[in-house]
Amino acid sequence: MKQLITDSPERTKEFSKNFAKDLKPPKILALYGNLGSGKTTFIQGLAAGLGIKKRILSPTFVFIRRYDLSGGLKFYHVDLYRLDSERDVEAIGLKEILEEKAIIAIEWPEKVEKLLPEDLIKIKLETIGESKRKIQIS
Ligand SMILES: Nc1ncnc2c1ncn2[C@@H]1O[C@H](COP(=O)(O)OP(=O)(O)O)[C@@H](O)[C@H]1O
Ligand SMILES: [Mg+2]
Repeated sequence: MKQLITDSPERTKEFSKNFAKDLKPPKILALYGNLGSGKTTFIQGLAAGLGIKKRILSPTFVFIRRYDLSGGLKFYHVDLYRLDSERDVEAIGLKEILEEKAIIAIEWPEKVEKLLPEDLIKIKLETIGESKRKIQIS
């Protein structure tokens, strides 16, 4: 397990940008943590590290956003915050995406725990101060 404390959103992004460099698809990242703990911020750095130039926003009404990278690599940002029923899980087509050879980062993964494979990178974010976050990766 790897653990670090970051003291700014920039530091968090710098870390996740570097972290992205070692990721080879297929890879599923589950990001756990309360609202405001930095999941989306972490994913912004991750996307930058994967070579995505577009700004990553929190998908509010869209659950899944897909980014096509060079070399046929696909990156999915999944945010299940507003997902509230099993039926929705079917509707958004997450199951199919999880089978793809892509890099997939999921916010609120606990909502689809049963769908997730065992081979998962778990990233836990915790707010420990106004701009301090603890990040644990296992
Ligand atoms: N060290 C830090 N790492 C990440 N975000 C931080 C940090 N310190 C402050 N923040 C702020 O906390 C908020 C995190 O929001 P966001 O990444 O959207 O969280 P989540 O997706 O978990 O709800 C942002 O406003 C960000 O600027
Ligand atoms: Mg978010």
